[in-house]
Amino acid sequence: MLGIALAKAKHLTEGFAPLPRGIKNHPYNDISNLEKVFSDKTAAVILELVQWQSGITKADKKFIAKIKKLAKKHKALVIIDEVQSGIGRTGTLFAYEQFNITPDILCFAKGISNGFPLGGILTSDKVSKHMSAGSHGTTFGGGPIACAIGNEVIDTISKKSFLNQVLKKEVRFINLLNKINEKHKCFEKITSAGLWVGVEVNKDSKIQIDDLIKKSHDNGLMILKANASTVRFSPSLIIENELVDEGLKIFEKSIISLL
Ligand SMILES: Cc1ncc(COP(=O)(O)O)c(C=O)c1O
Repeated sequence: MLGIALAKAKHLTEGFAPLPRGIKNHPYNDISNLEKVFSDKTAAVILELVQWQSGITKADKKFIAKIKKLAKKHKALVIIDEVQSGIGRTGTLFAYEQFNITPDILCFAKGISNGFPLGGILTSDKVSKHMSAGSHGTTFGGGPIACAIGNEVIDTISKKSFLNQVLKKEVRFINLLNKINEKHKCFEKITSAGLWVGVEVNKDSKIQIDDLIKKSHDNGLMILKANASTVRFSPSLIIENELVDEGLKIFEKSIISLL
């Protein structure tokens, strides 16, 4: 309930009530007036370090530095949502490692057990001493099979060699997408954070995102929508180079068919 209330999006919250109150939203990466949303009553600031819905937008380092400073000043906890950005997706085990900030609480899920249902939180000692074992339980929480899978995934993904190949493939993606753009001048912006890539289509382009996604699916490439003008690639972290190349050929073919 808190999670959906945070987004303040009507399509997510309609039909749910009562929503938690006292949430203040602030534009992402905007440091102006940031101090106005903090007070000594602020319990916590909750944020993602890479936002996919706005097209794989990374947090600005100055924005994070200011949040860190204000949270410290007002004794507010920093809660980082790494449900999407965590577990190697951005080229480090967690995205926060790239932003000079250490969360008091970090939420993770999705990639942690490669599709097997598991999610969790990590906390600093300062926070965890207030939560004894069992105080944050769920029926299936701590299931031994899910946890064993999660352990294995962490062991594999946290290896430097594994994370390096994620970063190398990010470069491959960007180079190939730039080449497509040089030929067809169809992208406004290409953004990425590890193997998480957003491609914003030119505002005056004939290409409609939904059509591009449909065409790509029809041609055998699975891509997703980030927002009304941006597609999102979120491939397996062990995707082979040949598949990156093949996928982007299909993407180019789909684009050409819509120009
Ligand atoms: C960024 C982000 N945070 C939180 C959640 C909610 O995670 P869960 O479904 O594990 O509660 C999601 C789900 O898609 C998400 O994408």
